[in-house]
Parts: sequence; C-alpha cells; structure tokens
Amino acid sequence: MRVTVFGIGYVGLVQAAVLAEVGHDVVCVDVNVERVENLKKGIIPIYEPGLTPLVQRNFDAGRLQFTTDAELGVKHGRIQFIAVGTPPDEDGSADLQYVLAVAKTIATYMVTPKIIVDKSTVPVGTADKVGACVSTVLKERGLDLGFDVVSNPEFLKEGAAVADCQRPDRIVIGTDSPAVESKMRELYAPFNRNHEKLIVMDVRSAELTKYAANCMLATKISFMNEMANLAEKLGADIEKVRQGIGSDPRIGYHFIYPGCGYGGSCFPKDVQALVRTAEKVGYVPELLKSVEAVNSRQKEKLFTHIQAYFGGDLLGKKIALWGLSFKPNTDDMRDASSRVLMESLWAAGAVVQAYDPEAMNEAQRIYGTRSDLTLMGTKESALNAADALVVCTEWNAFKAPDFDLVKERLSHAVIFDGRNLYDPAMLEQQGIAYYGIGRGRSV
Ligand code: NAD
Ligand code: UGA
Repeated sequence: MRVTVFGIGYVGLVQAAVLAEVGHDVVCVDVNVERVENLKKGIIPIYEPGLTPLVQRNFDAGRLQFTTDAELGVKHGRIQFIAVGTPPDEDGSADLQYVLAVAKTIATYMVTPKIIVDKSTVPVGTADKVGACVSTVLKERGLDLGFDVVSNPEFLKEGAAVADCQRPDRIVIGTDSPAVESKMRELYAPFNRNHEKLIVMDVRSAELTKYAANCMLATKISFMNEMANLAEKLGADIEKVRQGIGSDPRIGYHFIYPGCGYGGSCFPKDVQALVRTAEKVGYVPELLKSVEAVNSRQKEKLFTHIQAYFGGDLLGKKIALWGLSFKPNTDDMRDASSRVLMESLWAAGAVVQAYDPEAMNEAQRIYGTRSDLTLMGTKESALNAADALVVCTEWNAFKAPDFDLVKERLSHAVIFDGRNLYDPAMLEQQGIAYYGIGRGRSV
C-alpha cells in the first residue's frame, strides 16, 4: 500500500521504517530540512536500537523515501499518517498546532480521497477538529472530496521502539467506518498474524485509550514512589516490598520500579494534558493531579538526599553523574530526571561531571558549554576527584561497576542511586555509604 507519514520523529520514523520493511511504499515528510537531508545520507536523527539498518535497507530498496515536499507526500499515500509532536502549551493542554498544520497541508494538496490517521497522541475530540479543518480547506478549494479521520494511537516505548512496532501487543483503531476498518486491517495485516491484535472502537474511545494507558502506567510509578518514600520513613526496603506485591498477578511486576521520577516526552505531558481535558469538561481528576505532584516531588528526591548528606552546603562540590537520558537505550533527555537534578545542583553552587552511553551529544546540544558541567568520555573518568556518585539512569553499563575504583576515585565514598541498582548491604561491606530510593534509610 502507498502510505505517507508526516513527522519523522521517534514515532513517525520507526513506524514508517517498520511499514516499509513489510513491503508498503512509504514517503516520509518533515518540515525539518536538515533532518530530511541527513536521512537521505543515512544519518539517523535519534538513537534507537535496530533502527539504522532498518531505515538503510528500506531506503536503499526504494520503499522508504524522505522529503520536505508536502505536495508529493499528500499525492503519494491513500493513507496519510499524522505523527508530529503534541507538546504541552502554557496551561499543559496538548498543543495541536502541528497536527492541524498537517491536516491543512493534506487538505491543500489532496486531489483524491484520503484516510487521515492520527498517530500522534491527541486529546479526545481532535479527530473532529482535524475533520473540520480538512472540510474548511476543501470547501475553500471548491472540492467535494471524500476523506476519513481515524484514531490509531501509538504505544511504542523508546529504546524498544522497533521491536514494539514490529510486534505490537495491540493495534487500536478508532473508526465508525467499515470501509476504513478494512483498509487499516489491510495495512496492518503483516503485524496481525498469530492472534487478533486489532481492537476496533469509536474514535473518541481510541483517543482516550492512549491517555488512559499512559496515565495508568504513570500512576503505578507514582504509587510505588509514594510507597518508597514511606518505606524510607518506616525503615522498610521498597525493593522487598516490590517483589512481595509484584508476585500477585493482579498487580504484576511491570512498571512498579520506584526511582527518581518518570520522565520522557510522554508521561509528564500526557498526564498533564488529561488533567486539563478533564478540567475543561468540569471533572476534577484528583488521582491524576496527585500522580503528577508525586512525580514532580520525586524528581527533587536525589537532590534532597545529596543536600542533606553534605549538611546543606553544596558550594564547590563536584558531583559525578551517571545517566542523562530519561531511561536506558535512548539518547532522549526530554523531561529527564537528570536535568532537574543538575539544575538544582548548579543553583546550589555544585559542579557536575557527567557520563551517559548515548546522550552526550544531546546534553551538549541542550546545555552547550558551561563551567559547571563537564561531559566525560567514560563512566570511570566521571568519578575523578568527585565528592559523590549519583546514578540517574539504569543503563546496563552501570549495573556492575568496579566499586573499589569508585571508592578510590571519590573523595567521599558515597553513592546516591536513583534507580536502586545496587545492594545496600554489599556496599556497606565495601565501606561505601549508599542512599537508594526507599531502601529503609533516609539521609
Ligand atoms: P518528535 O518531536 O520526535 O518528532 C516530531 C516531528 O514532526 C519532528 O521531526 C518535526 O520536525 C515534525 N513536524 C512538525 N511539524 C510538521 C509538519 N507540519 N509537517 C511535517 N513534519 C512536521 O515527536 P515524537 O516523539 O515522534 O512524538 C510524536 C507524537 O507521537 C506525539 O504526539 C507523542 O506524544 C506521540 N508518541 C510518542 C512516543 C515516543 O516514544 N516518543 C510514543 C507514542 C506516542
Ligand atoms: C511510554 C509508554 O511506556 C509507551 O507505551 C508509550 O507509547 C510512550 O510512553 C508514549 O506515549 O510516548 P516511554 O516514555 O518511551 O514510553 O518510556 P517508559 O519505559 O514508559 O518509561 C517512562 C519513564 O518512566 C522513564 O523515565 C522510566 O525511568 C520511568 N519508569 C518506568 C519508572 O520510574 N518505573 C518503572 O517501573 C517504569
């Protein structure tokens, strides 16, 4: 099938490459000229395991094209995906300007009927807005062309995006049209082989499903962070509690890892956006507001521990930081806990020596050159003459460090662990002070 994808970011690029891999003919359109030119040269804008060879072989085979030419893109695909960003606006609502700009573009150039697919995460009612926008432009053009707007939210996780798209656990399709359902079934048939993965529903339910999924996951995390904070006060170990409750299949082990808060481009913005959506229809979402508040506080947790350990005086302290990305296996630092920590440390007069396996360029792009941040080439060099080690991201490379070396290089043998990677008893034996999250010990 001929498919067009607007927006070549995490979602658009991965989805496009995965569709091309199964034989669809995909054109990707983006307004970012540099991104498009780089992709044509084989330079992939994001770090995502498995993505580079996937893009390359489909580009070489001519099934995957990149362009800034929106008209070409609109004319190409019967199916037009909208996969652009929906960042928060000033009050936290999802900003639909990019989605609606693409809708307008499609309506401006279409000369045959189109199926417009909302892949971006968008509030309930957006498909109606996209439809109204397209109708208005078609009317201005004096054309009476058929089109449909489908909600098809994306559930991929960064760091596992290719695998998630190739083997989705579900494909949600929001449409009331049997003809559109049948086209979407044809599109996704290669991913729907072993058992039925398509869940077809009305558009509004599909739009809400996406927010409900992310908010449920965020709720699990904030709940566990609240339990971790309690465990610290009560002298219990949250890691034992986690195992104790996860073994109940009704609770499960997934997404109950406490830590220094959830980050990324989705949970923070999507929880906020659903809160605003609820408020706009006169419902006060108490639970979601607490999920957000607990998370904001949790992102301050490491700083609070470090500050207390050093008696409130961080002026001139050098902090070794392992992990800048918001989670492992990505270079994405959007809303990462590391950023909240670094900014608090800098405000208190400390300097940071940081290392991340993939996010160094991103950190350089965000923070540029500043005297209180040094980006180091290895995790070991980040320790040099530092006063303490802080772990913000659970990269595999940080899971079994040489603790003798850590102790030797730090001027205070202390680790603040935002992801509970280490065994407190083992570190105690090694003579290293250890502060995890909810490990029965406050500073
Ligand atoms: P992104 O910021 O990585 O990419 C968006 C791309 O859209 C950029 O390359 C930008 O230049 C392009 N763009 C903006 N306006 C455009 C226009 N008018 N025409 C063509 N291209 C345009 O965004 P993302 O992380 O891929 O997220 C996209 C959407 O998918 C968001 O709504 C997000 O919430 C949702 N989502 C993201 C993830 C994820 O893991 N990142 C997962 C599921 C859903
Ligand atoms: C999340 C969802 O998992 C995806 O299903 C969804 O498609 C995506 O958002 C989206 O809508 O964009 P992602 O943000 O890539 O994916 O990463 P997650 O693995 O969900 O992690 C998000 C944050 O939660 C990370 O900061 C992670 O460290 C934190 N987290 C996760 C915890 O603190 N504890 C956990 O148990 C799990």
